[in-house]
Amino acid sequence: MPSRQMSTETVRDTTVPISENVHLLKWVEKMAQLTKPAAIHWVDGSQEEYDMLCERLVEAGTFTRLNPELWPGCFYARSDAGDVARVEDRTFICSVSQDAAGPTNNWMAPFHMRRKLKSLFNGSMRGRTMYVLPFSMGPVGSPMSEIGVQLTDSAYVVVSMRIMARIGLPVFQEIDKDYKRVVPCMHSVGYPLEPGQPDVPWPCNREKYIVHFPERREIWSYGSGYGGNALLGKKCMALRIASSMARDDGWMAEHMLIVGIEDPRGEKTYIAAAFPSACGKTNLAMLIPPAGFEGWKVWTVGDDIAWIRPDSHGRLHAINPEAGFFGVAPGTSQKTNPNAMAALSRNTIFTNVALTPEGGVWWEGMTEEPPAECLDWQGNRWTPEIHRQTGAKAAHPNARFTAPAAQCPTIDPHWQAPHGVPISAIIFGGRRADTIPLVYQAFNWTAGVYAGATMGSETTAAAAGATGSVRRDPMAMLPFCGYHMGDYFRHWITLQRTLSETPGIFHVNWFRKDGSGKFLWPGYGENMRVLKWVVDRVRGRAYGREMPIGWMPRYEDLEWNGLEFGKDRFHQLQAIDRSAWRREIGQHEELFIDLHDHLPPEILYERELLIGRLSRELSRPRHDDRPEPVWWVDPDGD
Ligand code: GTP
Ligand code: SPV
Ligand code: MN
Repeated sequence: MPSRQMSTETVRDTTVPISENVHLLKWVEKMAQLTKPAAIHWVDGSQEEYDMLCERLVEAGTFTRLNPELWPGCFYARSDAGDVARVEDRTFICSVSQDAAGPTNNWMAPFHMRRKLKSLFNGSMRGRTMYVLPFSMGPVGSPMSEIGVQLTDSAYVVVSMRIMARIGLPVFQEIDKDYKRVVPCMHSVGYPLEPGQPDVPWPCNREKYIVHFPERREIWSYGSGYGGNALLGKKCMALRIASSMARDDGWMAEHMLIVGIEDPRGEKTYIAAAFPSACGKTNLAMLIPPAGFEGWKVWTVGDDIAWIRPDSHGRLHAINPEAGFFGVAPGTSQKTNPNAMAALSRNTIFTNVALTPEGGVWWEGMTEEPPAECLDWQGNRWTPEIHRQTGAKAAHPNARFTAPAAQCPTIDPHWQAPHGVPISAIIFGGRRADTIPLVYQAFNWTAGVYAGATMGSETTAAAAGATGSVRRDPMAMLPFCGYHMGDYFRHWITLQRTLSETPGIFHVNWFRKDGSGKFLWPGYGENMRVLKWVVDRVRGRAYGREMPIGWMPRYEDLEWNGLEFGKDRFHQLQAIDRSAWRREIGQHEELFIDLHDHLPPEILYERELLIGRLSRELSRPRHDDRPEPVWWVDPDGD
């Protein structure tokens, strides 16, 4: 197997610092004194180093090398059963004042938290190597990028970060060149090894702390090795800390995918879309236009995070700060997302999926036929029969692939453009079985901010805890906003004043169900029909009918070529139901009561306007003998 071969001639002494930055050197020294690692390794980000670390992970039992014939360059990892998702209740925003963190974030006084962290990290890396891992969120050298340095005792994190971000030598050079402010990120799995103590495949600690100091722009993460808890460039830096930077500097750090939609004439329109975790960002980012859309192309810029900033002409431009996809595996298939399947076909790390006897991976939904047998995400034997009897899943619902973005066949030619791509529309969307229609366009920016601010979504396996209950998740940022949510809404509203062109704001819901619990909308590639309407709206080419909640397409305003989808079903999808909206607006209050003294007045006015527009229907008496008052976007009706 050629990938096993490693050159030994040019081995670098990894203990020698790569940077000359005195602040960095001092900090590393201080942190090493605190955490007491057995060795320090300066990460250069090279292929040789990656191969060596993967080999070390194989030896440690963390990684299984997959069959290179089937999965070239791929590795398989199983996490500890208690370390499978982000831990929102262990995530803290430790601003100086509790008021600055707001009621939607856990808070502890920085002084107390620092004391706590000091004791947790004291000796936490004993017996392990501390890696000095520099990373750039955004292309190295781009004016929109930000640099962090993560000190971590997890080699799994280092190799994962090599896929997810730009790391190593070029980043050190950037740090040394012009002293750019660096976000210090401390990470320990919290499993020190005493002399002679054997390691475990997935070291972690039951006690977890994911801590952010927004004023100091600093991150400390303890006890977890999984995903957003441990790959600190992602949610911790690129969203929680970056949202705080963005507010101060007049830009936005959002939980959004970015796509470019190209029509048959070659006209390209970029869109950013915010859906909560496990609600379809990766899928929409890699959409393949369905039958009936010959000549259309959808280009992928990013699948999870967007940094958006007005350019010198006042037009919003966005970059994807990441370089890889940390995507949900279950449900990903040749049918639903062939681009993701291509991206993850090589050089990918799989975590918590199932392992087949041939040395391949499998997860629910990957193929129609499950393998006759495999090892599940916990290493137990799994067969379809066992599944029938016990309901056991082969892959954990939050099992993920870590794949290089460059391997995505539809990666946009401009995905690494230093100044980003121009954004013409913003879409919000949640996972809602009822109430919320397939698509509507907000009347204007503030109405759109209101729609985003009041977004609800069913909870998913991406976070630890119960799944399936609807919660408010403003702009899909509830777990990721590094400051007071009310101030965040204000930032959204005031940002528009710096723009020369206002993007359209839309709301979508791919997940509405019929009475028997089936999705009303086929979703995935068919979402193109909605995207086309969005593009045509912002280009001034499509009709939208004025409805109480916004502009809505009539049946004939969507392209139906290639899909049999009846008018009645469409009306069911777009229906605005009286009692459901009464409940919905009541639920908007839920968050607003907590945010009250930071809520911008525009939000309150928008709420009043919405209630006013809906009021005739909302207040219609229940003993009315007219048919159940459902608003159908029916061009034949009045
Ligand atoms: P994070 O990485 O957690 O932020 O998730 P994400 O928003 O990127 O979600 P992703 O695209 O991975 O989709 C999550 C789940 O939603 C998968 O199980 C998908 O199969 C499912 N899904 C995505 N798009 C659609 C759709 O249009 N319709 C339906 N019914 N399901 C979808
Ligand atoms: C999410 O939960 O939104 C993710 C996965 O994208 S994680 O990186 O774990 O946050
Ligand atoms: Mn996400």
